[in-house]
Amino acid sequence: MTPDLFEEGAKRLAARQEKVQGNTESGGRAAGFSRIGTPGEVDVTHGRILYLEDVSVSFDGFKAINQLSLDIAPGELRCIIGPNGAGKTTMMDIITGKTRPNSGTVFFGSTIDLLRHNEPEIAALGIGRKFQKPTVFEQLSVFENLELALKTHKGVKSSMFFKLDSAQKDRLAEVLHTIHLAESVTRMAGNLSHGQKQWLEIGMLLMQDPKLLLLDEPVAGMTDEETARTAELFLTLKGKHSLMVVEHDMSFIRTISDIVTVLCDGSVLAQGTLDEVQADERVIEVYLGR
Ligand SMILES: Nc1ncnc2c1ncn2[C@@H]1O[C@H](COP(=O)(O)OP(=O)(O)OP(=O)(O)O)[C@@H](O)[C@H]1O
Ligand SMILES: [Mg+2]
Repeated sequence: MTPDLFEEGAKRLAARQEKVQGNTESGGRAAGFSRIGTPGEVDVTHGRILYLEDVSVSFDGFKAINQLSLDIAPGELRCIIGPNGAGKTTMMDIITGKTRPNSGTVFFGSTIDLLRHNEPEIAALGIGRKFQKPTVFEQLSVFENLELALKTHKGVKSSMFFKLDSAQKDRLAEVLHTIHLAESVTRMAGNLSHGQKQWLEIGMLLMQDPKLLLLDEPVAGMTDEETARTAELFLTLKGKHSLMVVEHDMSFIRTISDIVTVLCDGSVLAQGTLDEVQADERVIEVYLGR
């Protein structure tokens, strides 16, 4: 599953190596066509915002991720399902730089090699991650939480004198509306419901305008109504952002999904519409237990 961009990259690398005859700036290390990314720029001309190939990671000899290959198109909302321990969270850990794979390729767009970046750099490049537990600042208002999400991007000095400019104010108002919290702007985050806290945290990620959002079990613990509103929210975000959503709640997946990827034992077991994967014998088998 090698896309054109890799062939093209390999060609360019070969041409460059021929020219410099091994005397490269990186001390002869084959850095290839990849480069260190700059926040704000992602090259999606090859139709992929995220690209994983042959990724493996072992913990004490146990292969949690096993030659995993997967890609996501810009603006896509990809759902990831799979039994407990399939490697879903570990995959997100790898994409966000929390865990380093033992082998494989992880690209953001066609040029940014994520394995050359650490966690804060990957966040700054435009990959936002939502963990399962909400981590909002309970003592601050909804407004202050969203404002803080912009500040955390800056150094301590500049955040002390931080004031929202008019574009940021507009962005904040837009995000408040998107996350259904416009009427709760002055409420203390600690007084919000579990679902509202989850939306606020998604709002904090949206303040950074991420290109790719990774959401791990976003509707766990939500009421049915909150789950339905979260589905609406994700459908609004689709297109403007690329989303990777891990969930066990199949009715939620049914509402939001286009393509569903089933992970099992650290690699892709099946991929297709939810109906397709649910009809797949191998998928039925892993869900029923072997
Ligand atoms: N840091 C670690 N050290 C050792 N083993 C780990 C580590 N992280 C994950 N694992 C193991 O890797 C496997 C995959 O775990 P992971 O959390 O990615 O699964 P998951 O698909 O997210 O499962 P769930 O649906 O239960 O959240 C599990 O067997 C887990 O115990
Ligand atoms: Mg998990």
